[in-house]
Amino acid sequence: MRFWLNGHQTTVDDASADTTVLQYLRASRTSLGTKEGCASGDCGACTVLVSGSQGEGPGGARYQAVNSCLLPLGSVQERQLLTVEGLSCGAQLHPAQQALIDYHGSQCGFCTPGFAMSLAAAAQAASPEDTEARRAQVLDAISGNLCRCTGYKPIVEAGIAACGAGAELPYVAAAAKPAAEPLRGFFQPETETELRELLAAHPEARIIAGGTDLMLEATQAYQSLAPLIDVSRIPSLTRIDSAGDTLCIGAGSTYSAQEQALADIAPEYVAFLARLGSRQIRNRATLGGNICNASPIADTPPWLLVQEAELIIGKPEGGFRYERLEDFYLDYKKTTLRAGEYLADVRLSRARLACAAKLYKVSKRYEDDISAVCGAFLINPNNQLRIAFGGMAATPKRARLTEAFINKQPWQTAENWEAVVAQAGEYLAQDFTPLTDVRASKDYRLQLAHNLLRKACRAWALGADAEAGVYA
Ligand code: FES
Ligand code: FES
Repeated sequence: MRFWLNGHQTTVDDASADTTVLQYLRASRTSLGTKEGCASGDCGACTVLVSGSQGEGPGGARYQAVNSCLLPLGSVQERQLLTVEGLSCGAQLHPAQQALIDYHGSQCGFCTPGFAMSLAAAAQAASPEDTEARRAQVLDAISGNLCRCTGYKPIVEAGIAACGAGAELPYVAAAAKPAAEPLRGFFQPETETELRELLAAHPEARIIAGGTDLMLEATQAYQSLAPLIDVSRIPSLTRIDSAGDTLCIGAGSTYSAQEQALADIAPEYVAFLARLGSRQIRNRATLGGNICNASPIADTPPWLLVQEAELIIGKPEGGFRYERLEDFYLDYKKTTLRAGEYLADVRLSRARLACAAKLYKVSKRYEDDISAVCGAFLINPNNQLRIAFGGMAATPKRARLTEAFINKQPWQTAENWEAVVAQAGEYLAQDFTPLTDVRASKDYRLQLAHNLLRKACRAWALGADAEAGVYA
């Protein structure tokens, strides 16, 4: 395979398909400034910039910040890869590096290369003049970076200064085709026909897109993942289209791409995405990955369930089958996907997307954390309340009994909502038997779910101001 590391053409022939970019950088000793903190996408010490991925950042930024600890090396085939060693221009530091010095944004320095890379990614885009808006831009950029000794104030001040200075990043023009041979066991189809052929030829292969969850099996559980089929270069799987009443979100579209495409169509969902991973994770993670992992604490399925989403699933023999998301989950980590099938699109109704919706997530860390409970609430076009939770059962699930009870009650009035919601607790306890685990106890989860329902109903019954001061 071939890529450009800090502007230098680099070829790799002998890496396994599940080698991460971080493992390559550190084992080959080509970029020791890129640190390994957690190897699980939580600390940002390994942040690098990659060009040409889908869903470019605001202002058409050329590079996106990603966690190299979860980035398969094969995925940077024919791409530009920038590490902290490639940020400066000769003796002149990049404004992000200079600002971290000027504002005393570093002490032990372990986290500093990662912060510099995240801030350099943010500084590519046009920066707002207003300091508070720029602060928000910086907080978004470093949402996946942890520092244990400096404290964040000087780092944020450095970021505000760096984003104001702006800076182009070095870029080498794309290579002429033909591309180099990919890594052995790492396949990159460019059409769904090629994908079907590869799935037939390699029935043991795993499908990978962003890899932000799957790669944890390699970095945390030391499992071998080869062979891998990377679907991120299939345009029909990464598009986001709207036609008539239907919105189609490609299973391989990243959250960053969705944030840009859906800001006007699904504002509650886009606002909620700030709680899903960090900027680095959202630059890689995909909707299809979140659905197909079938994790009970996946964050998007509760929203998709209240939207009554339909899945479009590619069949091995060609063509598609259609299935409601609600029917897709069979049990813990089990779906109806059969051998040779793949998730192509998620289909949503524009009429339901225009309905009032509320999405809440409760987790210990505000960004980049796994939820204890995630709740989605929607008043559909027939004025029926739809409720779904993650973290409350073996799969993300609608609260059918609770919905049936509430929808027979006059819950949308200031006089009645509280009594109705109090009584709804009995039905929630019948809908769900949550587990106790490291994130929350069974009782706490049930209480949280009830509180989130209370929060949503209160806001709707009393008006928008009712949410002020309520934390979730
Ligand atoms: Fe912590 Fe990659 S090493 S996010
Ligand atoms: Fe030590 Fe950030 S400077 S962890």
